This record gives sequence, C-alpha cells and structure tokens, in this order.
Amino acid sequence: MKNNPQLKKTEHEKTLGLFDLAILGIGAIIGTGILVLTGIVAAEDSGPAIVFSFLIAALASGLIGLCYSELTTSLPNSGSAFFYTWVGIGKFVAFLAGWTLIGVYITTTATVANGWTGYVQSFLEVLGVKLPHQFLMNPSAGGYVNLPAVLMILLMTIILTRGTSESKLINNFLVGVKIFIILLFIVVSVQHVRPSNWHPFLPYGVKGIFTGASAVFFSFLGFDALATSAEDAKNVEKNIPRAIILCLVISTTLYILVSLVMTGVVPYTKLNVSEAMSYVLIVKGHSFVAEVVSLGAVLGIMAVVFAFIYAGSNILKSMSRSAFLPQNLAQLNTKTHSPNRAIWLVGILSAILAGEFDLHYLALIANIGSLMVFALISLVVIILRYRYPELKRPFKVPFGKTIPILSIIICIVLLVSISLTAWLTYLAWIAVGLLIYFTYSLRHADEFNFTSEE
Ligand code: ALA
Repeated sequence: MKNNPQLKKTEHEKTLGLFDLAILGIGAIIGTGILVLTGIVAAEDSGPAIVFSFLIAALASGLIGLCYSELTTSLPNSGSAFFYTWVGIGKFVAFLAGWTLIGVYITTTATVANGWTGYVQSFLEVLGVKLPHQFLMNPSAGGYVNLPAVLMILLMTIILTRGTSESKLINNFLVGVKIFIILLFIVVSVQHVRPSNWHPFLPYGVKGIFTGASAVFFSFLGFDALATSAEDAKNVEKNIPRAIILCLVISTTLYILVSLVMTGVVPYTKLNVSEAMSYVLIVKGHSFVAEVVSLGAVLGIMAVVFAFIYAGSNILKSMSRSAFLPQNLAQLNTKTHSPNRAIWLVGILSAILAGEFDLHYLALIANIGSLMVFALISLVVIILRYRYPELKRPFKVPFGKTIPILSIIICIVLLVSISLTAWLTYLAWIAVGLLIYFTYSLRHADEFNFTSEE
C-alpha cells in the first residue's frame, strides 16, 4: 500500500471529551435492553436471579471493554474492530469483521426502534390516541409496517447528517431523560419491595442464569460503539478506556437496581410484559409516574438509535476509505464533516429492517454478530502483541493474555446458547459479504502496511 489513508491525521476538529464520550456510550448502552427485555427475561429465563444474569453479562462486557480499550488507544480509528483486524490478521478477516459490524449496528438499530414503538403505543393509548394496528406491526405480527420505528430512524438519520457537534447537544438531553426515568422508577418503587417476592430466587436453576445472561447481553451492546468515535475524541488514549469503564459501571449499577426493585415489587411470574417498568408502577398505583416513564422511554430510546447509526456509518466510512467498499461512501460533507452518504445508507437499511422484521429475531442476529466480533477482537489483542510488540500501547490490558482469553471463552459460552435460525441468518449475511469481497474488495483493498504510515 502506497499511502495508508487510515493513519493520516484527521483534519476535522476533535469535539468529544470524556463527558461527551461517556454520554455517547450511555446513550448507546441503556435502552430497549433494560426497558423492554428485563421483565421478559425475569419471567421466562432467570426469575429474580436475573441480577446474576446481568452481572455475568456485565463481566463479559467489562473483559471485552478492556480489550477494546487497548486496541482503540493503540490504533485510534473509526473503523474499530474492522481496522484492528486489518492490522492484526489481514484484509480478508478484516472485511468479515467490518461486514459483521455493519450488520450488527443495523440490526441493533432496528431492534431498538422496534422496542420503542411499544412505548409510543402505550404512551398514546393513555392519552386516548389509538394508531391503526397495521401501521404498528411488521408482517410477521399481522401488520404492514412498523411505521413509527421507520419514521424515528429516519429522523435520527437526518439529525446525524448535521454533524456530531450539533447532534451531541440533542444526545446529551436524551441521555439525561433516560437516566432520570430509571432513577425515578427506582426511587418511587423501592418502598414497595417485599423480600418474599425474591423467593424462590432461582426458579429456573443455574442454567436459567446463563440463558438470561445471553439475552440481557443485548442491554450492554453499545460500549463498543465508543471505539468507533476514536477519531472524534480528544485525548483518546485516556478518555476512551475511562469512558468505556465508566459507562459499564453506571449501566450495570442501574440494571442491578432496576432488576432488584422490579422483582422485589411484583412476583417475577407477572413480569412478562414489554413495558415492565410502567406496569410495575401502575400495579402500585403510580399511574402518573408510569406515564412520565413511558414518555421518557420514548425520548431516551431515540438516543440509542442515534448512537448506533453513528457507529454503523463510521465503520462504513472506514471500510470505504480503505477501498473495501466503494470509496465515495466515505465522502465527508463539506459543511458538517459528517459522512452523510454512509449515514443515509445505514439509516435506510435499518429503517427497512425495523419496519418489516420482528424484534426478537433482529436482537438475536445483533447478539450473534456482536459476540463473533468481540471474540475476534480479543484474539487480535493477543496477535498484535506478538506481531507488533513495539506498538505504543497507552493502555494495556493487565495480567498478560489472561483477560483476552477469558473474554474469548465467555463469548463462546454465550454464542453456543443462541438459536440455529439466528446462526443461519448470520451466515446468509456473511454470504452476501463474501460476494462483495470477491467481486470488489479483493481487487481494490490492500493488506495493511505500517511502513507507509505518515
Ligand atoms: N444496549 C442497547 C439497548 O439495550 C442496544 O437498547
């Protein structure tokens, strides 16, 4: 490679400090997972022991987050896993990692928007507004299209095309709302906790804890999205690892508190509803607070969609810039410096999936893709240490190879419990990717070469 565009200094201004990064991370992490999945997983998989499911998923995310931190501080680049794999392993695996990540960000955006429609519906119903069923459901649920999800994704796409510094104000506001409603739920409901509701604590046994962990893992997706903002981050080597750890600590604390309170107030068997927080509040006579929580969820979940479209477009931009995909997709808007073509592509694909497919199905694909990428980047940490021992590592995962190896093992444990259908869909996505790779990327993209760096 004559000239490596990935390591050229970026010309645009770095706008994101630690606070902005932490907010961006929390914006991506806390969403449909805690607001929609918690009740369902407590009822169906783990019972009150969902607290342990969250702890296992948090542990997995923490180990993976440390690996991400080492990579993103050594190789700050918006291509994240795609770029690390390109440097560490080679262009073929890098393409697969990047292609998987694009799929992950699109399916996660679509899943989250799907969950959002439920809260919109419940909020409007209390106000007496009933939207026609056909335009709220995807075809598998008997409708035509999930229109609110489609429109919300398109709105977030438009906002993102205005550039990160403008969008960050809106995002900060939405994250504030989200944290507020979760704290409100905890503060108002905690008085109704009856420890007898925590018995039996392990109704589905230890196996249930692990099944629950692989489902609630979705609630932590998003910490990796931070790595894609490396090029917009100030003082990247300190701020990115701190932001990842900070986001995980905050979200884990909130998740544990919510699940303890939720299962302590209402028997877990009754929590099989998609808006469990509002449900618990209504059961205990706090209808007004329930309405505030629904409204907050409607606003807050938008921040997740925002963050995932941003992350997806960054990967797309990075892959295009390196000629793995057509290069005009990487073009930045002259005014806003945002990769508007990449943003539109991610936004439109996500909107189509959100409109036409089922939430659960989309979430499983997002989980499988994420875990594949997470296992891979943990491996890349080890490979890079052998291949490039001299690489400057402002942050290094402690205890040698132990943490990356544990991270790979925990990803595999969670991966094997995901259904065959999801695996087949993931493989179909990879098949499309292989077609693109052999007809386009193989001819245009080069192997990564450090010698041409700057
Ligand atoms: N972690 C994100 C959510 O739960 C994807 O909505």
